[in-house]
Amino acid sequence: MSFGVGVSGARGGPGALLREFGAGKNEGKFFDVRVVARLAGYLAPYGWRMLGAFAAMLAASALTLVTPYWYKIAIDQHIAAGDLAGLTWLAWLIGGAFVALYLATLAQQYLLGWVGQRVLANLRAQLFRHLQALPLGYHDTHIVGVTVSRVINDVAVINDLLSEGWITLIADFVILGGIVVVMLSLSAPLALWSFAVLPLMALATAIFSRQAKIAFRKTRSAVAAVVGDLAEDLAGMRVIQAFAQEGEAQKRFRQVNVANRDAHVSAMSLSFAFLPAIEFLGMLATGIVLWVGGQMVARNEVTVGVLVAFLSYVTRFFAPIQELSRLYNTMQSAMAGGERVVELLDTAPIVCDCADARVMPAIAGALAFEHVSFRYRADAPFVLRDINLKIAPGQTVALVGPTGAGKTSLGNLIARLYDVTEGAVTVDGVDVRAVTQESLRRQMGIVPQDPFLFTGTLADNIRFGRMDASDEAMIAAARLANAHDFIAALPEGYRTKILEGGANVSVGQRQLICIARAILADPHVLILDEATANVDTVTEALIQSALERLLAGRTAIVIAHRLSTIRHADLICVVQDGQIVEQGRHDALLARGGVYHALHARQFAGA
Ligand SMILES: Nc1ncnc2c1ncn2[C@@H]1O[C@H](COP(=O)(O)OP(=O)(O)OP(=O)(O)O)[C@@H](O)[C@H]1O
Ligand SMILES: [Mg+2]
Repeated sequence: MSFGVGVSGARGGPGALLREFGAGKNEGKFFDVRVVARLAGYLAPYGWRMLGAFAAMLAASALTLVTPYWYKIAIDQHIAAGDLAGLTWLAWLIGGAFVALYLATLAQQYLLGWVGQRVLANLRAQLFRHLQALPLGYHDTHIVGVTVSRVINDVAVINDLLSEGWITLIADFVILGGIVVVMLSLSAPLALWSFAVLPLMALATAIFSRQAKIAFRKTRSAVAAVVGDLAEDLAGMRVIQAFAQEGEAQKRFRQVNVANRDAHVSAMSLSFAFLPAIEFLGMLATGIVLWVGGQMVARNEVTVGVLVAFLSYVTRFFAPIQELSRLYNTMQSAMAGGERVVELLDTAPIVCDCADARVMPAIAGALAFEHVSFRYRADAPFVLRDINLKIAPGQTVALVGPTGAGKTSLGNLIARLYDVTEGAVTVDGVDVRAVTQESLRRQMGIVPQDPFLFTGTLADNIRFGRMDASDEAMIAAARLANAHDFIAALPEGYRTKILEGGANVSVGQRQLICIARAILADPHVLILDEATANVDTVTEALIQSALERLLAGRTAIVIAHRLSTIRHADLICVVQDGQIVEQGRHDALLARGGVYHALHARQFAGA
């Protein structure tokens, strides 16, 4: 018996986790044209605004470049010549340039932020749409926390690159190139002296980027481990507490938490060592310019104005370099995140509407399994083998059999939650793969084995399949499901807020609500998975009578462990090891003295 806790059975351990978050192919790649081209498409609708931001960036770069040159003119042409009127005029110009610089930067940031948030929201919306289209098989095998992290974190780092990164990158190169050109044209010898520190800088950058690659890869998988561990422990909290495993869980979490801390500290130390090193080299260059430039001024080789302009340019030269090293990390995480997001978007829904899918007409309710075999994954064993079954409209068919026999899997195939591996499932003679999933499922109701409630009110939960249902219809459905009495007794009635996972309603009550949900949706085909397990006899009787009302006039598949509830079924199928080993009505099967008889005898022996 499960504890009713959604602990994923499909967890692949830490190895799988790391693989998933994974050191993707792009790990450490600085630039991947394929990923960038793909993601750049999200900027397309905002072309004009991006162009505006680009223009603002160029203006800001130009203003950054021009002001030191104006210092030179102020000193050499106005101060040296005593031309105070010209000096005032130039001072105003420089002041105006700073105001313009401020405005250009503001415009650039605003436009980028505006576009960025839209790209972020669009990309997340698309991912969410895609996740809903992905087969349950995908969700069975992927850790929820990891998927959440893709939609939230990976998209955020991509956005850093898409909306801001590339423009900063271009701006940095424009400014660097501009400064080099201006310095060379002002005084080539002095320019060469200022560049003397560049080899040292190249060396520092090379060392840094190699170490950074390793360090940031470590931080990413460390974050992954924390997210994965946390997500799983929170989902399984009930079991952890029930088995008094808090200590163990704490120990596991401490491990990943400490690993995460250490990874971040070492990545940070790296930045802390690198950035001051660049700053030191910048100071060194300033010192060289002052020392060499001062002598050149004394020898009349350059003017004082040129020296002042140089001092200003040299300081400006190192800011973009520091910026580039920061961008380097952004680019790397964005490439890794981008690769994962693209990969997710490219995961084709295995269950999908084929190109010429038709709309399923109103279902009469004839179901058939024709030589159906099924397995969940290509590398997994078959869980259903050569199933043949015909169900006439309006019939109630019960599936019984031991745990793990394949009953739930059979039900899943009817609603096409998974596709058959071999053979075909037909509804009214139409292969379920030939019609749109939406038109098929809209006419089916499922009361799942693990009845799931969403956060929201009780009323919302009953309305889940038909949001437009009136209050009267909703309450009528609850009455039919025998859920009305317990709901009405709650202080807030139908407006009672459901906690996450339906924690504040009992399992039996959850089932009643799910039955009310199915009644309200008014489906032609109903699949009830063990709707009578885990409840007391009074509730069982309530559910039983609700079911009788629910089943009237519909085709129904009832999967039950309690044989008492299916005595009146039109057909009982005994499923064992993925095969239907016996079928017939209750009395006939009992008389036969086979598996059903044995199951029956065992169940009523204790009673
Ligand atoms: N999502 C899944 N991915 C992979 N294997 C699965 C999945 N769900 C079920 N299985 C496997 O398929 C087999 C049949 O499972 P199924 O849930 O259909 O059994 P069941 O008859 O409904 O059992 P129970 O009576 O316990 O509900 C089991 O061996 C199980 O391990
Ligand atoms: Mg089952």
